[in-house]
Amino acid sequence: MKTVVVIGALGMMGQAALSGLTRHKVVTASRSGKGCDFQVDITNKDSLRKLFESVGEFDAVVNTVGHCEYAPFQEMTSDQWATTIQSKMLGQINVVHVGLEYIKDGGSFTLISGILNMKPVPQAIADATTSGAIDTFVKCVAHELPRGIRINVVNPTVLEEAMDVYGDMLRGFQPVPGALVGKAFERSVDGFVTGQVLFVDA
Ligand SMILES: NC(=O)c1ccc[n+]([C@@H]2O[C@H](COP(=O)([O-])OP(=O)(O)OC[C@H]3O[C@@H](n4cnc5c(N)ncnc54)[C@H](OP(=O)(O)O)[C@@H]3O)[C@@H](O)[C@H]2O)c1
Repeated sequence: MKTVVVIGALGMMGQAALSGLTRHKVVTASRSGKGCDFQVDITNKDSLRKLFESVGEFDAVVNTVGHCEYAPFQEMTSDQWATTIQSKMLGQINVVHVGLEYIKDGGSFTLISGILNMKPVPQAIADATTSGAIDTFVKCVAHELPRGIRINVVNPTVLEEAMDVYGDMLRGFQPVPGALVGKAFERSVDGFVTGQVLFVDA
């Protein structure tokens, strides 16, 4: 059994991740902290330090947080780009940069991207761009991680549980159950792969 810190645990993707981590000791966190063990803001490195110091020893971090703004490219404001980059891209990079100071030898990080960098749709340019950035970050930074620490990213298509939110934007997409996406998180945490983009598509 490993101790796994799951950030964004009560979100739709967090719930999918938890379904694959049932045999581990899970410590949960989110921005509001509601219903979770801890509060954290991944856009703030001090907040992440406080989280990891409070948790104590842990073997893995699973981050399912990455807020994205949606608009047609020509209407996207600088603020919308900045918000998305601060959360989905830099926020996740913060998780790894700060988490490295605390995670155990042989530990692992698992991040979140999303299928829209492979299958673009209107309105989702910021999500697609930052998902692509995170896929690249993971493939490249894996070579620089010390102490046998691994890193992977789960790149799923839309969840069945999220179709009421994203269904209109994702016409022609076949959703997958959260439990299937949970298996990819499980492979990342329990396996030996590193630097991998774990696609889950229908
Ligand atoms: N849903 C899908 O079908 C799907 C498919 C592929 C990829 N994704 C990607 O998965 C990620 C999560 O999506 P979701 O659908 O799970 O969203 P969600 O249901 O809205 O959940 C978001 C979670 O993130 C937390 N959060 C937001 N900002 C945070 C911050 N700065 N620091 C810490 N926690 C923060 C929220 O906490 P509070 O509630 O406490 O604020 C909540 O737990 C996104 O990047 C999305 O693109 C989603």
